[in-house]
Parts: sequence; structure tokens; C-alpha cells
Amino acid sequence: MTDASLPRPVTIITGASRGIGAAIAERLAADGHDLVITYRDRAADADAVARRCTDSGARVLVLQVDLADLDAAATVVPSAVDAFGRVTGLVNNAGITGRIGPFLDVPLEEAEAVFRINVLSPLIITRAAIEHMATDRGGVGGSIVNISSGAAKSGAPNTYIPYAMSKAALNALTTGASKEFGPVGVRVNTVSPGTTRTEIHAAAGRPDAPDERAPGIPMRRPGEPHEIAGAVAYLLSDDASYTSGADIRVAGGN
Ligand SMILES: NC(=O)c1ccc[n+]([C@@H]2O[C@H](COP(=O)([O-])OP(=O)(O)OC[C@H]3O[C@@H](n4cnc5c(N)ncnc54)[C@H](OP(=O)(O)O)[C@@H]3O)[C@@H](O)[C@H]2O)c1
Repeated sequence: MTDASLPRPVTIITGASRGIGAAIAERLAADGHDLVITYRDRAADADAVARRCTDSGARVLVLQVDLADLDAAATVVPSAVDAFGRVTGLVNNAGITGRIGPFLDVPLEEAEAVFRINVLSPLIITRAAIEHMATDRGGVGGSIVNISSGAAKSGAPNTYIPYAMSKAALNALTTGASKEFGPVGVRVNTVSPGTTRTEIHAAAGRPDAPDERAPGIPMRRPGEPHEIAGAVAYLLSDDASYTSGADIRVAGGN
């Protein structure tokens, strides 16, 4: 929750039209954030998320941005600042896995798209956010959360190694940026979900992956998007005011 006597936080969430990003948006709206949510294709889904957030009292800007287009990624923070005058939070959530399959068969173009969307766009958006937030540049500080994956550490053999590589890179962004920008009021953290019930698995070619993987999860079930959102909300809240460089695994015991 946020302090009602302070101005409302303004938080950008990439890829919030569905899945984990949508759950984060709805949770943050309920916690008192105004929001900038982005999507790639699914405008109707993004509008439905925005309506639910508005019903919770949030002001919401919806942006269509293909994060494979790095010039488009560069417009996200300026659009948010134009709309709200300030940005206090960023959740780098949008991500793709590529198709599940053997490492030797991954087309290079697919690995490149994974790196554009999962690494280079977050790099661009994070730099713009920090330039706006940093207290040595006239900002008031802020909080950034990178949505990584347990794959960063498992390496996802026989499944999607390039995706695992991209998430390891995102983890390095958290580690480096939390140290470089801690002195200027910017906290940077990671949330690493385990297998969570969203459409990302269908896009990877394995729609039933959450239930197939359940026997290998100590809690014997996949996560639900709202269970990831709680960790993100914590890291963006004042309760996490001394938490930076952390990686919260939300993975049912894995
Ligand atoms: N689900 C899991 O099991 C799991 C586990 C570990 C980590 N994660 C991570 O959690 C994050 C969210 O995953 P999810 O499962 O919620 O995914 P999802 O259900 O597939 O949703 C992906 C979201 O990202 C957007 N998006 C995809 N490609 C984009 C692009 N090129 N440009 C802009 N937006 C794009 C989608 O927009 P549209 O709706 O317009 O297509 C959608 O809002 C990802 O970073 C993922 O790697 C997920």
C-alpha cells in the first residue's frame, strides 16, 4: 500500500495486456499507483486491463509498443512523463521465450528477437527511467523491477537456452544498476517466477507446460499471475525501502 498523504506513484509496466503483466497492473492499481501499460498486439485485452485498473481509481495510459523495435522502446518513458509529469516505478515485464526445442535448432533470428525484447528494450527503457529518476539529475528517485525467470539459473536445457541467456543478462542489469544507482535514489530488483499459468507456454509451442511441469515443482502446481504480482508490489512499496539488488524467486519451492 502507499501513503495517501504522498503524490500517487506513477509506474510503467511493459507487456501488461495479459498474463503476469496484467496481474501486476491490477494489483498496483489497487495499491494506489497510476499506470502506464504497454502491449504489442492485443489492444482489446490491454483496454480491458486498463478499465479494471481505472475501476480501482488509477489513471491509466495505454501504449502500443513493439519492443522488438528499439526506436519504439525509446518512446515509452517520454510518453509516460508527457502524460503524468513524472515516473516513479518501472516493471520490465514483457518477454518472449522463443519456441521450445533443442539449442542447435534455434534460428538466429529468433534468438535475436528474444534478446531485443528481453534485454535491449529493458536496457533502453531502464536507462531512460533512471535518467528521469536519479536524484543527481533532478529526479526524486524510484524503483525498478525486472521480471526474470528461474531459467536464468537452470539454463533451460532442451527447452529454450537463448531465453535463459536473456534472463541471465536481465539479472546482471539488476545487479549492476542497483549498485551504480543506489547512491542516487534508484532501487533495482528482480522477481524470478517459476512456471506460471499464462499464454506464454502456448506461444512457445507447449500450452500444457504448466500442468506437465507440476510434478517437478515442490508445491506440485504452477503459479498464478497474481502470486507473482504480490512480490512486485512489495518491491515497489515503501516496505522495500532498503531492498535493492534482490532477486525474489516466486517458484513454488524451486
Ligand atoms: N509464465 C511463466 O511461466 C513465466 C515464468 C518465468 C518468467 N516469466 C516472465 O514473465 C514475463 C511475463 O510473462 P507472461 O507469462 O505473462 O507472458 P504472456 O502471457 O505471453 O504475455 C506477454 C505480454 O508481453 C507482451 N509482449 C510480448 N511480445 C512483445 C513485444 N514484442 N513487444 C511488446 N510487448 C510484447 C504481450 O503483449 P500482447 O498481449 O499485445 O501480445 C503481453 O502483454 C516475461 O518476461 C516472462 O519471461 C514467465
